[in-house]
Amino acid sequence: MNRRPIIIDCDPGYDDIQALILAKQCENVRVVAVTAVSGNVALKYTEKNALAITEYLGFDVPVASGAERPLFRDPLFAEEHHGEEGLLGMNLPEPSKKVVDKKAWDFIYDIAVELKGELEIVAVGPLTNIAIALMKYPELKDLVKTIYIMGGAILSGNSRFSTEFNIHVDPEAAKRVFESGIPFYLCPLDLTRQSYITDEEIVKVEEMGNKETKFFADITKLSMVTFSGNLPQRKDGIVGSNMHDPCTLLFADDNSIFDFEECYINVETFGKNAGKTVTDCYSDKQAEVKNGYLVKSVDRKAFVERVYSLLSKY
Ligand code: RIB
Ligand code: CA
Repeated sequence: MNRRPIIIDCDPGYDDIQALILAKQCENVRVVAVTAVSGNVALKYTEKNALAITEYLGFDVPVASGAERPLFRDPLFAEEHHGEEGLLGMNLPEPSKKVVDKKAWDFIYDIAVELKGELEIVAVGPLTNIAIALMKYPELKDLVKTIYIMGGAILSGNSRFSTEFNIHVDPEAAKRVFESGIPFYLCPLDLTRQSYITDEEIVKVEEMGNKETKFFADITKLSMVTFSGNLPQRKDGIVGSNMHDPCTLLFADDNSIFDFEECYINVETFGKNAGKTVTDCYSDKQAEVKNGYLVKSVDRKAFVERVYSLLSKY
């Protein structure tokens, strides 16, 4: 089967790393490029981590560097969840490959033109690169088939009570993407907190016994508590790693274990709750125009089995 071409736009971070390890083995999508953006940690680290993990995996994909700050706001980082350099204190061999000599937004555009409308984007960091690409190349909206976004929160946030980190970092970028006219699927925290792997379940990955799966297992175990080591990642007592970015990637690869609904989605860009995603999905009041899809639930056991299946290919 022809695998659908995707670009992964990311801010590695532990769960971006999990997603990149899984992406190499996906059966329905093929990664044609990785683009890095400032997010969990500074761009110098997200860019380096994207180069380092893809080289470590023998994953022959070009990496482009993107925005080192949001469109208008000061950078916001999540070092308490990812460590100062984004790998929870783990190390990868220094990459020999370099980023391509184009910025992420130019690279995305060039690939979109080359693929004649078949390109899809899996965006698992702040949406700054995508927004810049859309602003610089207005015709890009007709050249990107679908965008799958890890972002937003309907019930409860993580970066603030009401906001999820990726959208909170750059609400103006998110608004441009939500209003671009490109079909998009939003995977909010309400979904990605369902796609966790427990401390018991990760043992099966450890037992796979190769360097790639060992790195996956090690960084996943470290992510089960905050980097400062004093708080569990999950508030419900389950010792697990929320695989926010792998959830979004695996939805893009095969959405058969997920439930999703077409609805209206947008984001606040002013005031103390800037970055708050809003939707009519659960509302009596319905928008006239539905601009996206909200991914609402996943069969967690099936998700974990799919993670096992992909990792077992290493
Ligand atoms: O809120 C979780 C999201 O923000 C994930 O993509 C994580 O990697 C960070 O980018
Ligand atoms: Ca991310």
